[in-house]
Amino acid sequence: MEPLQGFVVFLLVTVALLVATVVTGLTARLKPHLVLVACTVVSLGVAIYYAEQLGEQYDLEAAGAIKDVHLALAKIATLSYLAPIASGIATLRNRARKKLHLVLALTTVALTVAAAVTGTWMILAAEPLVK
Ligand code: HEM
Repeated sequence: MEPLQGFVVFLLVTVALLVATVVTGLTARLKPHLVLVACTVVSLGVAIYYAEQLGEQYDLEAAGAIKDVHLALAKIATLSYLAPIASGIATLRNRARKKLHLVLALTTVALTVAAAVTGTWMILAAEPLVK
């Protein structure tokens, strides 16, 4: 798959899986919830792989400050997956931690969307490298 095609496909798949993860969490369907978390993390990894390949086809410096904003957000968003994973394990042990898990899960979703939006903005502002 071409980097642009692969990136767009896996970004959309990741967001769809994330939405399904939130829905199964809110409806307390634990087994599908955990399977979807694993699928989301794998799909995010594949999207990042294609994003890196896509980045090599552009002069990202030409995008200006949005490049630094996006790279910072992308790292924070990826790291933030540890928070719902840790709080999810804590919620399995004690359901009283569900509220905290909800807040951390929604923060991760918001960061993922923010990284996707700034990443698209960065690519549109960058110069394609002529091969
Ligand atoms: C990206 C990762 C995750 C997202 C976005 C997510 C999202 C959610 C959401 C929105 C809820 C509903 C909270 C509420 O009703 O107040 C929930 C519930 C829950 N999640 Fe997650 N979650 C994630 C990862 C995990 C993981 C890794 C685990 C466990 C290892 C886990 C275990 C649970 C449990 C036990 C519940 C409570 C279900 C119940 O009501 O019985 N979650 N999750």
